[in-house]
Amino acid sequence: MMGRFDGKIVLVTGGNRNTGLDIVEKFVREGAKVYMCGSSDASTAKGVEALKIRSAAWGQSAQPVVSQTCDISDIAQVTALFDTIERESGRLDILVNNAANQGIGHGGPLEMDAARFHDVFNVNVIGGFQVTQMACNRFFMKQESRGVVVFLSSNTAMRAIRHRTAYCASKGAINSMVRALALDLAPLGIRVNACAPGYIYTERWDVLDPAKVARRRLNCPLRKEAKGSDIANVVAFLASEDSANMAGEIVTCDAGCSCQHMPEDVDV
Ligand SMILES: NC(=O)c1ccc[n+]([C@@H]2O[C@H](COP(=O)([O-])OP(=O)(O)OC[C@H]3O[C@@H](n4cnc5c(N)ncnc54)[C@H](OP(=O)(O)O)[C@@H]3O)[C@@H](O)[C@H]2O)c1
Repeated sequence: MMGRFDGKIVLVTGGNRNTGLDIVEKFVREGAKVYMCGSSDASTAKGVEALKIRSAAWGQSAQPVVSQTCDISDIAQVTALFDTIERESGRLDILVNNAANQGIGHGGPLEMDAARFHDVFNVNVIGGFQVTQMACNRFFMKQESRGVVVFLSSNTAMRAIRHRTAYCASKGAINSMVRALALDLAPLGIRVNACAPGYIYTERWDVLDPAKVARRRLNCPLRKEAKGSDIANVVAFLASEDSANMAGEIVTCDAGCSCQHMPEDVDV
């Protein structure tokens, strides 16, 4: 059976766990060869193991996935990852900037350490930029078919969540950067768009008090958080020819949260 991404070479940053892993799975199942990275050897190796288990379940070898540790805020590691892609595949068709520093546990804006603010921006904004720049210069601009970039933003770029100043600010910066990149790169044949998720079920939900899970679901007009596969579907759409006339768009996928002023039980 033909897949939408047959023969395509894809890079998913932070593809070793949670949503990133679902995005990797989506592209592999639709025919692509995927490069993925975690920020450390241990987390990347864990992703490889998780993929082996998944690929057994979907009845396909995990062979089209290549993993390499890459801290995207470190230009030397980004260069090494692109060296591998060039040596092995000689091209890149799709870049998914999924990796993120969540900036959890930094406290409120009055007490947070400015160095941690830098850490979040170094990964989410500068890291995303330098991976994109390298993808364009080393591959997309040299290929007749050019390439596609999809960023993972967040609905918190538009509606803030508490005690996550750096993270919310970084996602706002990503939205602006996506529009700016799209403006400059669209005339060159490179499309840049973003998916902005709301709640996604990740391993962090496994340890939540069930009352908190229920409360979160009540916050959603659709009464459910996204599965990683829901987000992967939007990312795949933005990476595919189905979105061939879209550039600089931020596609929200948040169970309707952004269209609501207040959750139902406090809407008095
Ligand atoms: N979860 C949500 O509810 C939610 C909501 C809105 C938007 N999003 C966005 O959706 C994307 C995926 O979210 P998620 O919750 O699945 O993410 P996550 O569980 O926090 O995982 C983050 C991923 O990014 C990688 N990463 C972190 N710092 C990195 C660095 N310096 N270099 C390379 N990789 C790095 C992590 O690798 P390690 O394993 O090595 O740490 C991990 O694979 C993110 O962009 C996130 O901001 C998530």
